[in-house]
Amino acid sequence: MKVLAIANHKGGVGKTTLAFHLIKALSEKGHNVLAIDMDPQGNLSVSFYNDRIPDEHHVKLLFDDGKKHPVPMKICDDNGSCVYLLGSSIHLASFDSAGAKLLNYFKLKSYLEKKLWKEGGVENIDYVVIDTPPNLGIFTMSSIVASQYLVIPLDLSIYALDGLRELTRKIKELSEEIDHKIETVGVILMDSNERTNMAKSFNATLTESFGDTFLGEIPHSIKVKEAFLDNVPVWEIAPDNKAAIRLKEVINEIIERMK
Ligand SMILES: Nc1ncnc2c1ncn2[C@@H]1O[C@H](COP(=O)(O)OP(=O)(O)OP(=O)(O)O)[C@@H](O)[C@H]1O
Ligand SMILES: [Mg+2]
Repeated sequence: MKVLAIANHKGGVGKTTLAFHLIKALSEKGHNVLAIDMDPQGNLSVSFYNDRIPDEHHVKLLFDDGKKHPVPMKICDDNGSCVYLLGSSIHLASFDSAGAKLLNYFKLKSYLEKKLWKEGGVENIDYVVIDTPPNLGIFTMSSIVASQYLVIPLDLSIYALDGLRELTRKIKELSEEIDHKIETVGVILMDSNERTNMAKSFNATLTESFGDTFLGEIPHSIKVKEAFLDNVPVWEIAPDNKAAIRLKEVINEIIERMK
């Protein structure tokens, strides 16, 4: 079982968009995927299940001492491809204070390691993909602790590199403290306007700083937004769209690097 987190404490950089497409790609390839939404905004959950997340499938149970373990919800699309979801909603936010106790940083890790999802009769899981909120609190950090692999989506802004340094420093600090290894398999510019000079020079800086960990950019396309609203991957509504093609390539590279 491979566990990957998608993180960046900056908001709106494409974390959920990438998580959703990666989960869809893995399940279309026939893998059993567990999608975990660690963000109280619940955006990833909504793209799979457009209703209130029932308590037994809610990630908040991980932090709710004494309650039962959450059970992933099986969700199948019209093409018959299914994923398991541990969903989230604003109700997770009240467990933010769980960050005061170090033990809580290990709750997700231990849930996955002990395969506690099996209690719900779930089949074997090949991949776990975790979407995280735009901050470095308990929900992001416990996702990092639970993961072997990390992908960092970025946006094109002058603050992006500073944010990235802060994120890598925080992860390094935590990893040393608890002797945890996490490999960054990709840094991606998720919504790029390739033709601008700023995009060109930003690309050059990222290549210089990250070498082949920088997986390049996904061009801006309205189709990405339209697909997101329809809760389908962009390659389903626009297979020849440049953003759809690049997104598939980048995702295949991420999957390749998790081997
Ligand atoms: N290549 C693209 N072309 C057009 N729009 C895009 C592209 N990539 C992402 N977006 C859009 O950018 C917006 C932000 O994306 P997303 O919600 O995935 O970011 P996020 O990092 O998860 O945000 P948050 O930090 O709030 O959780 C969404 O409306 C999404 O559709
Ligand atoms: Mg998000």
